[in-house]
Amino acid sequence: MEIDVTIFEMGPRDGLQNESKFISTSDKVKLVNLLSTSGIPKIETASFVSSKWVPQMADGEQVMAGINRKSGVAFTALTPNEKGLERAIRAKADEIAVFGSASEGFSKANINKSVKESLQTFRPIVEAAPMPVRGYISCITDCPYDGPTNPTQVIKVAEELLDMGCYEISLGDTLGSANPNTTEKLLSALLSVFKAKDLAVHFHDTQGKAIENIDISLDFGISTFDASIAGLGGCPYAPGARGNVSTEAVIDFLESKGFHTGVDREKIKVAAEFARSLTR
Ligand code: HMG
Ligand code: MG
Repeated sequence: MEIDVTIFEMGPRDGLQNESKFISTSDKVKLVNLLSTSGIPKIETASFVSSKWVPQMADGEQVMAGINRKSGVAFTALTPNEKGLERAIRAKADEIAVFGSASEGFSKANINKSVKESLQTFRPIVEAAPMPVRGYISCITDCPYDGPTNPTQVIKVAEELLDMGCYEISLGDTLGSANPNTTEKLLSALLSVFKAKDLAVHFHDTQGKAIENIDISLDFGISTFDASIAGLGGCPYAPGARGNVSTEAVIDFLESKGFHTGVDREKIKVAAEFARSLTR
Protein backbone atom coordinates (compact mmCIF):
# COMPACT_ATOMS: atom_id res chain seq x y z
CA MET A 1 0.00 0.00 0.00
CA GLU A 2 1.32 3.43 -0.86
CA ILE A 3 2.27 5.68 2.05
CA ASP A 4 0.23 8.86 1.72
CA VAL A 5 1.05 10.74 4.92
CA THR A 6 4.39 11.40 6.60
CA ILE A 7 5.02 11.22 10.33
CA PHE A 8 8.00 13.34 11.36
CA GLU A 9 9.12 12.04 14.75
CA MET A 10 10.07 14.73 17.27
CA GLY A 11 10.51 12.69 20.47
CA PRO A 12 14.32 12.48 20.67
CA ARG A 13 14.59 16.27 20.19
CA ASP A 14 11.43 18.23 21.04
CA GLY A 15 10.40 15.46 23.41
CA LEU A 16 13.57 15.22 25.43
CA GLN A 17 14.99 18.77 25.25
CA ASN A 18 12.92 19.94 28.22
CA GLU A 19 13.71 17.05 30.57
CA SER A 20 15.52 18.36 33.64
CA LYS A 21 17.18 15.02 34.47
CA PHE A 22 19.97 14.29 31.96
CA ILE A 23 19.07 11.29 29.84
CA SER A 24 22.10 9.21 28.99
CA THR A 25 23.44 9.13 25.46
CA SER A 26 22.90 5.37 25.31
CA ASP A 27 19.21 5.77 26.22
CA LYS A 28 18.80 8.46 23.57
CA VAL A 29 20.45 6.17 21.02
CA LYS A 30 18.21 3.28 22.05
CA LEU A 31 15.09 5.44 21.63
CA VAL A 32 16.14 6.54 18.14
CA ASN A 33 16.93 2.95 17.15
CA LEU A 34 13.52 1.72 18.37
CA LEU A 35 11.85 4.46 16.33
CA SER A 36 13.87 3.91 13.18
CA THR A 37 12.89 0.25 12.94
CA SER A 38 9.18 1.12 13.20
CA GLY A 39 8.79 2.50 9.68
CA ILE A 40 8.92 6.17 10.68
CA PRO A 41 10.71 7.92 7.80
CA LYS A 42 12.10 11.01 9.58
CA ILE A 43 13.44 11.38 13.11
CA GLU A 44 14.65 14.63 14.64
CA THR A 45 17.62 13.14 16.43
CA ALA A 46 19.78 15.99 17.68
CA SER A 47 19.84 19.70 18.34
CA PHE A 48 23.06 21.55 17.65
CA VAL A 49 22.26 24.52 19.84
CA SER A 50 24.21 26.06 22.70
CA SER A 51 24.55 23.59 25.57
CA LYS A 52 24.28 26.56 27.94
CA TRP A 53 20.78 27.15 26.63
CA VAL A 54 19.64 23.52 26.34
CA PRO A 55 21.95 21.22 28.35
CA GLN A 56 19.90 18.09 27.59
CA MET A 57 20.90 18.29 23.91
CA ALA A 58 24.64 18.68 24.56
CA ASP A 59 25.47 15.13 23.39
CA GLY A 60 24.10 15.51 19.84
CA GLU A 61 27.36 14.41 18.21
CA GLN A 62 27.54 11.25 20.31
CA VAL A 63 23.90 10.40 19.64
CA MET A 64 24.35 10.83 15.89
CA ALA A 65 27.50 8.69 15.99
CA GLY A 66 25.85 5.96 18.08
CA ILE A 67 22.61 5.31 16.20
CA ASN A 68 22.03 2.66 13.55
CA ARG A 69 21.66 4.53 10.27
CA LYS A 70 18.72 2.55 8.98
CA SER A 71 18.50 3.09 5.25
CA GLY A 72 15.50 5.09 4.07
CA VAL A 73 15.25 6.99 7.36
CA ALA A 74 16.35 10.63 7.59
CA PHE A 75 18.08 11.52 10.86
CA THR A 76 17.67 15.27 11.26
CA ALA A 77 18.95 18.04 13.53
CA LEU A 78 18.20 21.61 14.60
CA THR A 79 20.77 24.25 13.64
CA PRO A 80 20.24 27.84 14.86
CA ASN A 81 23.40 29.33 13.33
CA GLU A 82 26.61 28.63 11.43
CA LYS A 83 28.19 26.77 14.32
CA GLY A 84 25.13 24.50 14.37
CA LEU A 85 25.47 23.87 10.64
CA GLU A 86 29.15 22.94 11.01
CA ARG A 87 28.29 20.50 13.80
CA ALA A 88 25.48 18.98 11.73
CA ILE A 89 27.75 18.48 8.73
CA ARG A 90 30.42 16.79 10.87
CA ALA A 91 27.75 14.59 12.48
CA LYS A 92 26.40 13.65 9.03
CA ALA A 93 22.84 14.81 9.66
CA ASP A 94 20.68 13.84 6.68
CA GLU A 95 18.63 16.99 7.01
CA ILE A 96 18.72 20.09 9.19
CA ALA A 97 16.23 22.68 10.35
CA VAL A 98 16.41 26.37 11.10
CA PHE A 99 13.84 27.57 13.59
CA GLY A 100 12.30 31.01 13.64
CA SER A 101 9.20 32.55 15.11
CA ALA A 102 6.24 34.53 13.84
CA SER A 103 6.38 36.63 17.01
CA GLU A 104 9.15 38.86 18.35
CA GLY A 105 8.83 37.90 22.03
CA PHE A 106 9.41 34.18 21.48
CA SER A 107 12.15 34.79 18.93
CA LYS A 108 14.09 36.85 21.46
CA ALA A 109 13.50 34.36 24.31
CA ASN A 110 14.33 31.28 22.25
CA ILE A 111 17.28 32.32 20.10
CA ASN A 112 18.19 35.77 21.42
CA LYS A 113 17.42 37.46 18.11
CA SER A 114 14.65 39.56 16.60
CA VAL A 115 12.69 37.91 13.80
CA LYS A 116 14.61 39.98 11.25
CA GLU A 117 18.02 39.13 12.76
CA SER A 118 17.09 35.43 12.85
CA LEU A 119 16.19 35.41 9.15
CA GLN A 120 19.48 37.16 8.37
CA THR A 121 21.29 34.41 10.29
CA PHE A 122 19.37 31.61 8.58
CA ARG A 123 19.82 32.68 4.95
CA PRO A 124 23.54 31.86 4.63
CA ILE A 125 23.00 28.58 6.50
CA VAL A 126 20.19 27.48 4.24
CA GLU A 127 22.13 28.54 1.15
CA ALA A 128 25.35 26.80 2.24
CA ALA A 129 23.83 23.60 3.63
CA PRO A 130 24.73 20.51 1.60
CA MET A 131 21.58 18.76 2.85
CA PRO A 132 17.86 19.65 2.71
CA VAL A 133 16.77 22.31 5.19
CA ARG A 134 13.42 22.52 6.90
CA GLY A 135 12.15 25.80 8.34
CA TYR A 136 10.12 25.97 11.54
CA ILE A 137 7.90 28.87 12.46
CA SER A 138 6.93 28.95 16.13
CA CYS A 139 3.94 30.68 17.70
CA ILE A 140 1.71 30.30 14.65
CA THR A 141 -1.45 31.32 16.52
CA ASP A 142 -0.29 32.49 19.97
CA CYS A 143 2.92 33.63 21.62
CA PRO A 144 3.59 33.26 25.37
CA TYR A 145 5.05 36.78 25.40
CA ASP A 146 3.14 38.74 22.71
CA GLY A 147 -0.36 37.18 22.76
CA PRO A 148 -2.28 36.21 19.59
CA THR A 149 -0.33 36.01 16.31
CA ASN A 150 -1.75 37.56 13.15
CA PRO A 151 -1.59 35.09 10.21
CA THR A 152 0.17 37.79 8.13
CA GLN A 153 3.19 37.47 10.46
CA VAL A 154 3.35 33.73 9.70
CA ILE A 155 3.02 34.36 5.95
CA LYS A 156 5.89 36.87 5.99
CA VAL A 157 8.30 34.52 7.74
CA ALA A 158 7.23 31.52 5.62
CA GLU A 159 7.80 33.50 2.40
CA GLU A 160 11.34 34.34 3.49
CA LEU A 161 12.17 30.80 4.60
CA LEU A 162 10.92 29.30 1.34
CA ASP A 163 12.68 32.01 -0.65
CA MET A 164 16.03 31.20 0.99
CA GLY A 165 15.59 27.52 0.08
CA CYS A 166 13.81 25.67 2.87
CA TYR A 167 12.04 22.70 1.30
CA GLU A 168 9.14 22.78 3.78
CA ILE A 169 7.74 24.96 6.54
CA SER A 170 6.72 23.27 9.77
CA LEU A 171 4.03 25.35 11.46
CA GLY A 172 4.73 25.26 15.19
CA ASP A 173 1.88 25.52 17.67
CA THR A 174 4.51 26.05 20.33
CA LEU A 175 2.12 26.53 23.25
CA GLY A 176 -0.43 23.93 22.16
CA SER A 177 -3.06 26.63 22.27
CA ALA A 178 -4.26 26.48 18.64
CA ASN A 179 -7.88 25.39 18.36
CA PRO A 180 -10.01 24.42 15.37
CA ASN A 181 -11.06 28.06 14.81
CA THR A 182 -7.60 29.58 14.93
CA THR A 183 -6.13 26.68 12.93
CA GLU A 184 -8.75 27.06 10.20
CA LYS A 185 -8.24 30.82 10.04
CA LEU A 186 -4.46 30.43 9.80
CA LEU A 187 -4.52 27.66 7.20
CA SER A 188 -7.06 29.51 5.03
CA ALA A 189 -4.69 32.47 4.95
CA LEU A 190 -1.60 30.34 4.31
CA LEU A 191 -3.16 28.16 1.63
CA SER A 192 -4.16 31.27 -0.33
CA VAL A 193 -0.41 31.94 -0.71
CA PHE A 194 1.38 28.58 -0.45
CA LYS A 195 0.84 25.03 -1.66
CA ALA A 196 -0.10 22.35 0.88
CA LYS A 197 3.02 20.36 -0.07
CA ASP A 198 5.19 23.24 1.24
CA LEU A 199 3.65 22.98 4.71
CA ALA A 200 3.77 20.59 7.66
CA VAL A 201 2.05 20.97 11.01
CA HIS A 202 3.63 20.71 14.44
CA PHE A 203 0.98 20.70 17.13
CA HIS A 204 1.73 20.54 20.80
CA ASP A 205 -1.15 19.06 22.76
CA THR A 206 -1.38 21.23 25.87
CA GLN A 207 -5.14 21.65 25.55
CA GLY A 208 -5.96 18.35 23.90
CA LYS A 209 -6.87 19.96 20.56
CA ALA A 210 -4.02 18.62 18.44
CA ILE A 211 -5.94 15.80 16.77
CA GLU A 212 -8.83 18.12 15.85
CA ASN A 213 -6.28 20.55 14.44
CA ILE A 214 -4.67 17.75 12.42
CA ASP A 215 -8.08 16.82 11.07
CA ILE A 216 -8.52 20.39 9.81
CA SER A 217 -5.01 20.36 8.34
CA LEU A 218 -5.91 17.21 6.37
CA ASP A 219 -8.89 19.08 4.90
CA PHE A 220 -6.42 21.68 3.62
CA GLY A 221 -4.33 18.94 1.95
CA ILE A 222 -1.44 18.95 4.43
CA SER A 223 0.18 15.53 4.67
CA THR A 224 3.21 15.86 6.97
CA PHE A 225 2.60 15.69 10.71
CA ASP A 226 5.14 16.24 13.47
CA ALA A 227 4.53 14.07 16.52
CA SER A 228 6.40 12.88 19.58
CA ILE A 229 6.56 9.34 20.86
CA ALA A 230 4.47 9.00 24.06
CA GLY A 231 3.67 12.72 23.73
CA LEU A 232 7.01 13.61 25.31
CA GLY A 233 8.11 17.16 25.60
CA GLY A 234 7.66 20.89 25.71
CA CYS A 235 9.87 23.85 24.85
CA PRO A 236 12.16 25.28 27.55
CA TYR A 237 11.38 28.83 26.31
CA ALA A 238 7.58 28.40 26.15
CA PRO A 239 6.45 28.29 29.78
CA GLY A 240 3.62 25.81 30.37
CA ALA A 241 3.79 24.21 26.93
CA ARG A 242 3.36 20.44 26.91
CA GLY A 243 4.60 17.79 24.52
CA ASN A 244 3.86 17.36 20.86
CA VAL A 245 0.80 15.32 20.06
CA SER A 246 1.72 11.67 20.58
CA THR A 247 2.95 9.67 17.63
CA GLU A 248 0.71 6.76 18.60
CA ALA A 249 -2.40 8.96 18.62
CA VAL A 250 -1.55 10.51 15.26
CA ILE A 251 -0.97 7.12 13.65
CA ASP A 252 -4.22 5.72 15.06
CA PHE A 253 -6.15 8.78 13.92
CA LEU A 254 -4.69 8.84 10.40
CA GLU A 255 -5.16 5.10 9.91
CA SER A 256 -8.75 5.38 11.17
CA LYS A 257 -9.35 7.97 8.45
CA GLY A 258 -8.04 5.52 5.82
CA PHE A 259 -4.54 6.97 5.41
CA HIS A 260 -1.53 4.71 5.31
CA THR A 261 1.41 5.79 7.51
CA GLY A 262 3.71 2.83 6.85
CA VAL A 263 4.44 2.59 10.59
CA ASP A 264 4.29 -0.67 12.54
CA ARG A 265 2.02 0.03 15.53
CA GLU A 266 3.42 -2.83 17.64
CA LYS A 267 6.96 -1.46 17.28
CA ILE A 268 5.71 2.03 18.07
CA LYS A 269 4.11 0.71 21.28
CA VAL A 270 7.46 -0.69 22.37
CA ALA A 271 9.19 2.62 21.60
CA ALA A 272 6.48 4.51 23.52
CA GLU A 273 6.88 2.30 26.58
CA PHE A 274 10.65 2.87 26.52
CA ALA A 275 10.14 6.65 26.03
CA ARG A 276 7.85 6.74 29.09
CA SER A 277 10.41 4.87 31.17
CA LEU A 278 12.98 7.60 30.43
CA THR A 279 10.95 10.40 31.97
CA ARG A 280 9.47 8.62 34.98
P1 HMG B 1 23.58 33.62 22.12
O1 HMG B 1 23.96 33.56 23.56
O2 HMG B 1 22.92 34.85 21.63
O3 HMG B 1 24.77 33.29 21.12
O4 HMG B 1 22.68 32.35 21.82
P2 HMG B 1 26.27 33.55 21.02
O5 HMG B 1 26.60 33.46 19.58
O6 HMG B 1 26.64 34.78 21.80
O7 HMG B 1 26.90 32.26 21.76
C1 HMG B 1 26.84 32.04 23.14
C2 HMG B 1 27.62 30.78 23.47
O8 HMG B 1 26.99 29.66 22.85
C3 HMG B 1 29.05 30.81 22.92
O9 HMG B 1 29.84 30.03 23.80
C4 HMG B 1 28.92 30.09 21.61
O10 HMG B 1 30.11 29.48 21.17
C5 HMG B 1 27.89 29.02 21.94
P3 HMG B 1 30.84 30.71 24.84
O11 HMG B 1 31.77 31.56 24.01
O12 HMG B 1 29.98 31.55 25.76
O13 HMG B 1 31.51 29.54 25.52
N1 HMG B 1 27.13 28.59 20.76
C6 HMG B 1 26.98 27.32 20.40
N2 HMG B 1 27.43 26.16 20.93
C7 HMG B 1 27.09 25.03 20.31
N3 HMG B 1 26.33 24.98 19.18
C8 HMG B 1 25.87 26.12 18.63
C9 HMG B 1 26.20 27.34 19.24
N4 HMG B 1 25.91 28.62 18.95
C10 HMG B 1 26.49 29.38 19.88
N5 HMG B 1 25.12 26.06 17.52
C11 HMG B 1 21.75 30.67 20.38
C12 HMG B 1 22.12 32.16 20.54
C13 HMG B 1 20.91 30.56 19.15
C14 HMG B 1 23.04 29.86 20.25
C15 HMG B 1 21.00 30.22 21.65
O14 HMG B 1 19.96 31.13 21.87
C16 HMG B 1 20.44 28.83 21.53
O15 HMG B 1 21.18 27.87 21.48
N6 HMG B 1 19.10 28.72 21.48
C17 HMG B 1 18.43 27.45 21.26
C18 HMG B 1 17.18 27.38 22.05
C19 HMG B 1 16.50 26.06 21.77
O16 HMG B 1 17.14 25.09 21.42
N7 HMG B 1 15.16 26.04 21.94
C20 HMG B 1 14.39 24.85 21.73
C21 HMG B 1 14.28 24.46 20.29
S1 HMG B 1 13.07 25.40 19.37
C22 HMG B 1 11.56 24.62 19.70
O17 HMG B 1 11.49 23.75 20.54
C23 HMG B 1 10.36 25.01 18.88
C24 HMG B 1 10.01 23.98 17.79
O18 HMG B 1 9.80 22.71 18.36
C25 HMG B 1 8.76 24.42 17.03
C26 HMG B 1 7.60 24.79 17.94
O19 HMG B 1 7.15 23.95 18.73
O20 HMG B 1 7.18 25.95 17.84
C27 HMG B 1 11.16 23.83 16.77
MG1 MG C 1 7.93 22.08 19.27
